Order: sequence, then structure tokens, then C-alpha cells
Amino acid sequence: MRNFPAEADLPVYQDAGRYDAEHWWKVDDLAFWKAMAGEFGPQVLELAAGTGRLAIPVLQAGATYTGVEVSEPFLKLARDKLTAYDQQACLIRGDIRDFHLKKTFDLIFIGFNSFLHLLTDADAQATLACVREHCHSDTHLIIDIFVPDPLFLYRPKNKRVPAKNYPDPDSGAPVKVEETNRYDPDTELNHLRWYYSKEHEKDFLIIDFTLRMYFPDTMDRLLHDAGFRVLEKWGDYQRRPLDENSDLQIYVAVVGQ
Ligand SMILES: C[S@@+](CC[C@H](N)C(=O)[O-])C[C@H]1O[C@@H](n2cnc3c(N)ncnc32)[C@H](O)[C@@H]1O
Repeated sequence: MRNFPAEADLPVYQDAGRYDAEHWWKVDDLAFWKAMAGEFGPQVLELAAGTGRLAIPVLQAGATYTGVEVSEPFLKLARDKLTAYDQQACLIRGDIRDFHLKKTFDLIFIGFNSFLHLLTDADAQATLACVREHCHSDTHLIIDIFVPDPLFLYRPKNKRVPAKNYPDPDSGAPVKVEETNRYDPDTELNHLRWYYSKEHEKDFLIIDFTLRMYFPDTMDRLLHDAGFRVLEKWGDYQRRPLDENSDLQIYVAVVGQ
């Protein structure tokens, strides 16, 4: 076993109720993943499964769902949500850089930017090697990440910009989140800080986290070197081709060159 957990135990992913409340707006990918599970399932594996947000549409497609996730609190909430799908759903605590389930799947996916938590090429390579171990000749691997935006990468250091608003899950009080970031072009690491404020409680929570900015050429290289052939590169959930105006980069790949 490789020793990754401390790094993957991210402070940003310890409060599962807050995560779901904060991401109330993220619904544009649900129909997409339901369709992918229908087309490429039925045995589906999600890496970095979170609180089970994407498990639901996969299960609604009639697929069998396995999720690997490192955060215990997130797994607990996901298990609560999936009790109705007892026979069809399985959640496993693990690090996506080092998991060995000893079976193959028809569809393996990494949704909603989770791939950006793989901070180095070595992390990405370890993850793709594990994915490869769980592929048969017709397994489809799908990765969904955003395209790094120069305006986001090079905005003034310490400039706070509005990031999101959400209702506090306990009180319903409006919470405002602002963001600063510092991008290091040498490592392609983007160091972000989120500031949470309520009307009379400025900065009641501050969270730091880091995302690797993956550009399309890097994704091509990493997938190729890991033994995958890219079938499709989409720029949105409507499956339009990735181009210079795309916000998303969605890769569909199979084993082979
Ligand atoms: C942006 S959230 C996405 C969660 C879920 N897929 C969704 O769409 O809501 C990223 C998730 O990746 C998980 N994660 C980050 N690094 C991980 C790793 N190395 N192994 C397993 N899970 C990881 C986090 O704990 C978090 O749940």
C-alpha cells in the first residue's frame, strides 16, 4: 500500500452537510451522468464519490454503483442517502491513487473536478494506473474537469471575489463565500482560500485548499501514457466538442492506443 491518506484528508471535505448546502446550484451534470450510466453501464465505478450526489442519477439509470471516497463524513452522508438502493450501491473508503477492488467495471468516472485534487503528475499517473487495473477491453473512462481560465489564474493576489451563496444548513441564514487565489505557473497549482461570512459574522470560517490546473495537452499526455485512447473530448454536458470557448473538458477514453 502506498501512503497517501494525510494529503487526501482535505479540510474542505469534512463537513458533508455544508458541502451539499454549498453546492445546491450544481445540478447541470445530473442528467449527463444518468445518460452515461445508461449508455456505458451497467457496472459503474465513481472515483471521489463525495456525498453521493452523482450516485443517485447513476442508480436512477438502473446501473449498479460503486463509489470510492476518502472522507469519512462524506461517506456517512452518502450511505444514508443510498439506503434505498441497498442492493445496487456500494461505498468504499479509499484513496483513488491506491485502490484495488479486484474486479472490472463497464464505466469508471471522475466527476465534478475531483481530478484536480491530484496535485502532481505522479498522483494522476497512480490514479490512472489504478483505473487501468479495473478496466476490461470495453470499459469507458470519463473525466469531467473545468478548463483553467486565465482570468481566474492571474487575478490580483489577495483580491476577494464572490464565489457563492448558500443557506446555512442548520439555521437557513444566508452565507456568503468569497475567494482569493494564488496561482503558481511552475507547479500549475492554484492555492485557494474561501472566506465564509454571515450578516453579523464576517469570516466565521476560512478554508484553504489547492487544485492542480490541468490543461488539455496535459490530459492528452497523461491518458496516453497510462494506456488510454481518447474517443471523445466534449466541452459541455450537451456533448459539444471541446473548443476555445469551452468551460469544461470532458474526456471519454478506453484502454488501447
Ligand atoms: C468536488 S468533490 C466531488 C464529489 C462528488 N463526486 C460530487 O460530484 O459531488 C471532490 C471529492 O473528492 C474527494 N477526494 C479528493 N481527493 C481524493 C482522493 N485522493 N481519494 C479519494 N477521494 C478524494 C473529496 O473528499 C471530495 O469528496
